[in-house]
Amino acid sequence: MAKAEQIKKLIASYGRPDEFRSAAMTIINDEHRMGHAPLAAALKRVLDSSVHPVSGAPKLASLDASSDPAIELVDATDPSRRLSDIVLTSEARSSFDSLIEEQKRADELRRHRLHVKSKILFCGPPGCGKTLGAEVIARELDLPLLTARVDALISSLLGQTATNLRRLFEYATRRPCVLFLDEFDALARSRTDEGEHNELRRVVNSLLGLIDRHHGRGVFVAATNLESSLDTAIWRRFDDVVIFEPPSREQIGSLLRLVFKNFPVNFDVDASAAKLHGLSYAEIERVALDAVKTAVLKKRKAVSETDFAAALKSANRRTAAQSTRRPRAT
Ligand SMILES: Nc1ncnc2c1ncn2[C@@H]1O[C@H](COP(=O)(O)OP(=O)(O)O)[C@@H](O)[C@H]1O
Ligand SMILES: [Mg+2]
Repeated sequence: MAKAEQIKKLIASYGRPDEFRSAAMTIINDEHRMGHAPLAAALKRVLDSSVHPVSGAPKLASLDASSDPAIELVDATDPSRRLSDIVLTSEARSSFDSLIEEQKRADELRRHRLHVKSKILFCGPPGCGKTLGAEVIARELDLPLLTARVDALISSLLGQTATNLRRLFEYATRRPCVLFLDEFDALARSRTDEGEHNELRRVVNSLLGLIDRHHGRGVFVAATNLESSLDTAIWRRFDDVVIFEPPSREQIGSLLRLVFKNFPVNFDVDASAAKLHGLSYAEIERVALDAVKTAVLKKRKAVSETDFAAALKSANRRTAAQSTRRPRAT
């Protein structure tokens, strides 16, 4: 194992690729001398693929804390919603709980050389809580939420998307955070898809490498509603996969109670849940909030069944108009 002095030197050279390389090479050569050839070879491979000499073409981006080269690639926010603000299936709740507990007790686990869960994939249709889930994890862990700007990441310039991804992950390594990469399918599409060109393959390959090598403090969350088009090699990169689905009747009831928690309601919320079957959480939340708005505007003390029915009717009209004007997303 590398000696304390060598590790100190390595950490102290953070941000200076040439010094970093030479400190890392000292450790690698020592391991080799001690007869740990496979470890030495593995370390050399990681070093060669991650840290390039300053004179070489692609440089490790400057790690100077005063400059944030990837700032245009992310939106940083302070999350506010907690576990009590999201309705989850029991499986999803277990995944959230175990990720949060492992992260909170990461030092303890690392002391025992145990792996700490940190990479999670969210799948499921729109409006079912993937983005909210990333916010909740960040809030529960008291970490900033860095949401990747997918439009800024994807570039038509050859090679630029892979470079942007490298900058994004490097940026997220600088501080403990939750890095959220939405529309993951846009980057991790199957390499075997017909018509997919070499550039996409390069992007998928570099994304796989970046996820593997990402050891930033905090959590990496990727989300997609097109999970069937993901490259098969992607799945095993994640410690857990959470499936988000449109709500069951019971979950609709939980969501309504959540939305109405600050507004008195004078009808049976659970009985109304049946009428909302088939809608997403986001759509149901909108119906409930519309009903509250009507009650407030009409200066009523409680939301009535009539307010709720009117809100639902207008949601159904909206859905019908949408489905006749554009093809449904697959
Ligand atoms: N499971 C859920 N529990 C509570 N609220 C939800 C849930 N899913 C969605 N919502 C509400 O709908 C909004 C939009 O959902 P979002 O998380 O953006 O969905 P997705 O990312 O899956 O498309 C959320 O901000 C939240 O207010
Ligand atoms: Mg989303």
